[in-house]
Amino acid sequence: MKRIHFDRFGAPEEVLYQADVADPVPGAGEVLLKIRMRPINPADIAYITGSYVPPESWPACPGMEAVGTVAAVGPGVDTVRPGQRFIVSRIRGTWAEYMVVPVRALLPVAPDLSDEIACQMSINPLTALLLLQAVVPEGAIVQTAAGSAVGRLVNQLAARTGRTIINLVRRADTAADLRSQGYRHVILSSDENWQDQVRETAGDEAVVAAFDPVAGSTGQSLLAVLSRGGVLILYGGLSGEPVPASAMQLAGNDLSIKGFWLAPWYARSSAEEKKHVLRGLEDSFRTGELSIPVAGIHTLENFKAGIEQVLSPGRLGKILLSS
Ligand SMILES: NC(=O)c1ccc[n+]([C@@H]2O[C@H](COP(=O)([O-])OP(=O)(O)OC[C@H]3O[C@@H](n4cnc5c(N)ncnc54)[C@H](OP(=O)(O)O)[C@@H]3O)[C@@H](O)[C@H]2O)c1
Repeated sequence: MKRIHFDRFGAPEEVLYQADVADPVPGAGEVLLKIRMRPINPADIAYITGSYVPPESWPACPGMEAVGTVAAVGPGVDTVRPGQRFIVSRIRGTWAEYMVVPVRALLPVAPDLSDEIACQMSINPLTALLLLQAVVPEGAIVQTAAGSAVGRLVNQLAARTGRTIINLVRRADTAADLRSQGYRHVILSSDENWQDQVRETAGDEAVVAAFDPVAGSTGQSLLAVLSRGGVLILYGGLSGEPVPASAMQLAGNDLSIKGFWLAPWYARSSAEEKKHVLRGLEDSFRTGELSIPVAGIHTLENFKAGIEQVLSPGRLGKILLSS
């Protein structure tokens, strides 16, 4: 079977290659999953370049979520059968035709949900939901990288409660795309007065939180628009830089900085809770309340074209790999 490998950290276009390896065989309590679709997420790029939790062994295979169908079951497995479709999350190595997965790691997925949505269900929609749930006080939230899948989902989910989301993007075409799709409060971070624009947009509302996956000076600049007692929630490191915050900046306005990572939610939630939350999100995708644009689908063999599109400026949606 085909499996995408890398033997060392580096630029994806330089270190990734397609390997032909023997089909894996499921052991007791495992299934062989034929992967149908997986997204290329920023965490995959970080994994390949060496700025994420490192691989446990080499060669490594990228990919942390996917949708697939059971091709075979291991000894003693009687709760699932070949042909059933499942999603897998936070399990490494989905950029392969097949992978062996413990039965307990399989997450159910509604039969009518497309592979395009199903393969992205388990990380970004949940992240957006949990980020919003982490903000208790009333008031506006400002977010960077608002054109990302997470950024769009934050807006869509916040519409349920009417929470004001102020969206910062770095490209004019992303701003135009968001506005054309009805997203409100879109501000270009390259505007000299973007911080004034954020305050004006918030009006009488306090800016109680900032969601930031960029970090570095971008993260720091958000501290200046937070109201007293506000929190900067860092959930990614797209800039590759730390946030240079000063004690005075934080102490003077009673601000705090905290991190968010989805993994602990999966670790502490019961199977029932995961099923319940994912089913709720599925319903919202079905009604069109939630959506994630797809900018391209490439075959697994053609992963280089997918990587090229992911790394090109101006991409307005997710890139998926099919097989
Ligand atoms: N903590 C967690 O558990 C968790 C879970 C899910 C996702 N995340 C993080 O959430 C972030 C978004 O993920 P996604 O899958 O939604 O992304 P995505 O849809 O692939 O989009 C990435 C976005 O990031 C923007 N971006 C990249 N580098 C940037 C920079 N240096 N400054 C400003 N904007 C930048 C891009 O803007 P342009 O179009 O302008 O290039 C694009 O809009 C990633 O950092 C990811 O790792 C974290």
